[in-house]
Amino acid sequence: MKVIIVGATGAIGGVILQHVLRRNDITQVIALTRRPLPNNNIPNKKVENVIIQDFGDLENVQDETWEKIQGADAMVWSMGTYDLNEDVNLKYPLTFQEDFAKRLLASSRKREGRRDKFRFILLSGAFVEPDQSRRLYFLWDQRRMKGVLQTKTIEFAEAHRDVWEALIIRPGGILFGGGTFLNKATECVFGRSLAIRGEELGAFVADLVVSGSQQPIIENSEMVERGRKLLHEAV
Ligand SMILES: NC(=O)c1ccc[n+]([C@@H]2O[C@H](COP(=O)([O-])OP(=O)(O)OC[C@H]3O[C@@H](n4cnc5c(N)ncnc54)[C@H](OP(=O)(O)O)[C@@H]3O)[C@@H](O)[C@H]2O)c1
Repeated sequence: MKVIIVGATGAIGGVILQHVLRRNDITQVIALTRRPLPNNNIPNKKVENVIIQDFGDLENVQDETWEKIQGADAMVWSMGTYDLNEDVNLKYPLTFQEDFAKRLLASSRKREGRRDKFRFILLSGAFVEPDQSRRLYFLWDQRRMKGVLQTKTIEFAEAHRDVWEALIIRPGGILFGGGTFLNKATECVFGRSLAIRGEELGAFVADLVVSGSQQPIIENSEMVERGRKLLHEAV
């Protein structure tokens, strides 16, 4: 299986990349970034780092670049910012889905014989709000904007259901650094529905890439449970 990780230079994308690389059933990984991955993040011959310098200018992306990524079976979109950047948090992922799906459809003959649809996994968040009329008391603009992305991503998959499926992951606060005292205390305070360790999220997403999900929207507690089980089984 071949998978693309968009935003692999980020904290969350980096963890997902590490866990995807541990899977034997994932044989090729494209880290799709706007700048080269640091060398120590490419520990594995399975990874190829493909650069798109400006995700706002996909028209000028070379055919050679599209050809490298087109043969993929799945993509994890983990690009994002913590501010109100509409380009990064809304426009880029939607435009990329449209352009990429168009190319998949154009090359559908090459995909004949493939078992599965293309699997698009969107990193969203537990506080992201798809309901645009709901009253929110903090970070309302960011949460609503990412809610629009969630809704449009699902609508896009429904409109292209022959070739495309979308899975939305909604983690709460992601805790990096393993079982530190602070992480354990945070887990106690926020519980399974609002906190997840980086390694749990990474193991879960790597498995989601391969196994998919019956439900298109996946909340934090399910990721914690499944991530822990996968980590336990891997020991
Ligand atoms: N931390 C949490 O608990 C949590 C939970 C749920 C959701 N989230 C969301 O997850 C997203 C990613 O978080 P993170 O902690 O991984 O952030 P991060 O470490 O800042 O990584 C962001 C990623 O997005 C890329 N990116 C940003 N602007 C870009 C642009 N204009 N063009 C191309 N790539 C761009 C970055 O590339 P460069 O390295 O080149 O800058 C990097 O790969 C955020 O939107 C955040 O709100 C976070």
